[in-house]
Amino acid sequence: DSNVFDISEELGFLLKEPLTNLPDYYRVWLDLANNVTHLLESCTLRDMVHKMPVLSPDLLSNHRELRLAHLALGFISMGYVWQEGQHAPAQILPKALAWPYWLISHRLGLPPILTYADSVLANWKLKDPTGDMEIGNMDLIFSFPGGETCRGFFIVSLLVERAASSGIMGALEVMHAMKISDFIGIQKGLGKVTQSLKKMRETLKLMHNHVDPAEFHGTLRIFFSGWRDNPMLPKGLLYEGVSTEPILLSGGSAAQSSAIQCFDALLCIQHDDETGAFLTRMRDYMLPAHRQLIETLFVCPSLRDFILSCSCSDLCQAYNSCVSALVDLRNYHLNIVAKYIIVPGNHGRAMGCPFRGVGNRLNTTGTGGSSLMVFLKSVRNTTHKALISES
Ligand code: HEM
Ligand code: ALA
Repeated sequence: DSNVFDISEELGFLLKEPLTNLPDYYRVWLDLANNVTHLLESCTLRDMVHKMPVLSPDLLSNHRELRLAHLALGFISMGYVWQEGQHAPAQILPKALAWPYWLISHRLGLPPILTYADSVLANWKLKDPTGDMEIGNMDLIFSFPGGETCRGFFIVSLLVERAASSGIMGALEVMHAMKISDFIGIQKGLGKVTQSLKKMRETLKLMHNHVDPAEFHGTLRIFFSGWRDNPMLPKGLLYEGVSTEPILLSGGSAAQSSAIQCFDALLCIQHDDETGAFLTRMRDYMLPAHRQLIETLFVCPSLRDFILSCSCSDLCQAYNSCVSALVDLRNYHLNIVAKYIIVPGNHGRAMGCPFRGVGNRLNTTGTGGSSLMVFLKSVRNTTHKALISES
């Protein structure tokens, strides 16, 4: 049944063997996407986009081609909008980008903006194809400015996502075991989820060796900012040739990862109205098959109620270990956010740098558009509240 949700045992939600090339007709898209970093550094990406022909997406014939095209147009679009910095975003996405991007997005069921499903799940390759998926042997297909910080940020995110794959399988096992009241099965499945959450936390630590806070905050982050909840583009972005009104879309964020939302659904974590609404909205930025898995877990009979009613201490402990591992992961993530967003944000202010300091909304707002610390602490606290106190 994991096929329905387009997941695999080994890779979870990651796209298997992403393509790196498209039919020759699309060469101009790949030329620009492959060179986004250079074109941004020389401030010439917008000029190049203005020379782009309007290509039909009809020659794209399968899922992997569509994913590569969506990824490429995403990198070009983010670069196009933010080339001149956060204070001078483009207001209009030219038709040569907007129109094919719109149609491709529609076919995939993704929005026409760079998502986590693009930049993390579909943006990777092995340096040595016979080698392992470890950080030294992995590379991005497309990059933004920021050098090793950019590679590190996306590849570490990918490795965290991969560490979630055994937990996803565990969640499916719990779901099946629940249906037949198989206590041992539930316990085993929960154990898998716990181990996976611990592995995700360990893997997240790799950020420190590969991602520099100043580079991340000052150079890279702007490029996954969106045009919703963003005062620089309050009405959104106009997709020329698609709509006469601007469109509001959130920027890329790991809040768009399906993995943690699957665990929340399994463990029946009930987020507050506002944070819950944000997380639910982030599902619109996931692939439909992946969103479907969250929703399937969500409508299953409540695991937490089942455990409360069966008063089986082993099960209760297995559940609590799992919730604790999720709290630990969210706490570790909060430290990462302090190091990579709060601290460099304060430095900018201390130096009185108007570009990175005072008034920089990215110090208090996530690229997904949340009021980051308030949001993340609320999510962590509600996770903690799910713990069952044994009497
Ligand atoms: C949410 C920052 C890495 C998982 C967020 C948010 C921020 C943030 C600011 C708030 C949502 C928004 O508006 O964007 C960071 C930073 C990272 C990082 C600075 C690394 C330098 C990761 C990684 C993962 C992850 C590798 C794992 C896949 C999540 C999740 C949420 C989130 C699941 C939604 C809130 C939750 O469910 O707890 N992140 N993040 N983050 N991030 Fe990260
Ligand atoms: N969502 C992360 C941020 O706000 C990437 O920086």
